[in-house]
Amino acid sequence: MKAILNLDEKQAHINKNIYGHFSEHLGRCIYGGIYVGEDSDIPNTEGMRNDIIEALRNMKIPVLRWPGGCFADEYHWMDGIGPKEKRPCMVNTHWGGVTEDNSFGTHEFLRFCELIGAEPYINGNCGSGTVREMQQWVEYMTFDGISPMSDLRKENGREEPWKIPFFAVGNETWGCGGNMRPEYYADEYRRYATYLRNFGGNKIYRIAVGPNAADYHWMEIMMERASRMFDGITLHYYTVPGEWKQKCHALGFNENEWYQTMRKTRYMEELVTKHSTIMDRYDPDKRVGLLVDEWGTWFAVEEGTNPGFLYQQNSLRDALVAGINLNIFNQHADRVQMANIAQLVNVLQSVILTEGEKMLLTPTYHVFEMYKGHQDADLLHMTLQDVPEAEGMPAVNVSASSRDGKALVTFTNLDLENTAEVTIELRGGCAVKACARTLTSDVMDEHNTFDEPDRLRPQDFDVQLVQEGNVQFVKAVLPAKSVTSIEMVLA
Ligand code: AHR
Repeated sequence: MKAILNLDEKQAHINKNIYGHFSEHLGRCIYGGIYVGEDSDIPNTEGMRNDIIEALRNMKIPVLRWPGGCFADEYHWMDGIGPKEKRPCMVNTHWGGVTEDNSFGTHEFLRFCELIGAEPYINGNCGSGTVREMQQWVEYMTFDGISPMSDLRKENGREEPWKIPFFAVGNETWGCGGNMRPEYYADEYRRYATYLRNFGGNKIYRIAVGPNAADYHWMEIMMERASRMFDGITLHYYTVPGEWKQKCHALGFNENEWYQTMRKTRYMEELVTKHSTIMDRYDPDKRVGLLVDEWGTWFAVEEGTNPGFLYQQNSLRDALVAGINLNIFNQHADRVQMANIAQLVNVLQSVILTEGEKMLLTPTYHVFEMYKGHQDADLLHMTLQDVPEAEGMPAVNVSASSRDGKALVTFTNLDLENTAEVTIELRGGCAVKACARTLTSDVMDEHNTFDEPDRLRPQDFDVQLVQEGNVQFVKAVLPAKSVTSIEMVLA
């Protein structure tokens, strides 16, 4: 396979928020995952696990969405502020019917974002909350003068307002967020968004609920009727091999299930392309971002765990899913301004799993870490020729970017058996050094366990930088079932 990498052809800026994450009050994502409370024996900072903080800082997490998901449209933020012993409980009806004690609320979430160095993305309640409630939440968090809400914030220990860059009006309003029609939600969105104020220096990027997967009608209606009032619109699409009612398992799957997963995940390309085409008609200047704020694998829950907690293991197959999708998002960086894999810890395609005081980094974590050089870089023009096929699909996908005198090329090879030889011709510049890492295994469901947390991690990998006459090439052999990153230092 031949590739041409045009080092001088910058196509778009890759928004770092494509590497974003999502944390919901669901299962053990918040409680046990992020937050253990100050009295826990697990080392923590103000109740947040230190091991998680360190891992997320190393991965360079740019943005974190909270508190849901479906939970967001049942969440009443005032229940989650003030002295913890006075905070009312609620039933988490969506996720296992467990009692939520609200000990992790606005202050805790925003503190966690400070600790991990991520920007907060707050998802407001439009399904069961009022306009007033949403308006007051923004005032509570961001108003810098004297007002009932800013006084309340100060009483609760926070003098300075926070900066809230991202705020969404509801979640999945076509489903768990109110079962609305797009015509109805477009009007509701406009009403709620009218009262999302920018206080002081805070400027909110206003986010509307977008379609479920291929619901192009929803996108059409929202763009036509409400886009002048939003900066971003969401898209949700999960990779669910098997049937919704009988999902495949995260481990112990067969080759058919591997390829079915790859086929379903590659569908993201079509979804992003078609939704972008609709958006282009109403917004040719691409002012409005497409935010894929829920994506990733959704498998059957691990045996013996609460079905409402969505806890699943994470294998080399998840790493391929992550690598393929992140390459797709990079390639659409002119329109995709954010993506948030679901979910951060212990839920669906997590980057981290915990069990008591133990934690492990999943293969998906390693992909985010290997790709972190793409954040805020310039997307480079790169073409592939003679791409090998596997089960009727192109086996390889790629994206390339440059920043600060370095170029990063990230490849996936989804073929279970065959390596893929690639010769990359460098044009419009040259490299003085190239090094690479790959994440691969002989075993297609290789994964990390609490006893062996480092079974699968990226390994250094051999690439050659060769000069032939005036032309420079990088040559590599991509292993079967692998995610590979090649970093070049440019002359
Ligand atoms: O991520 C789990 C759930 O999937 C979210 O709560 C919801 O938005 C989606 O249906």
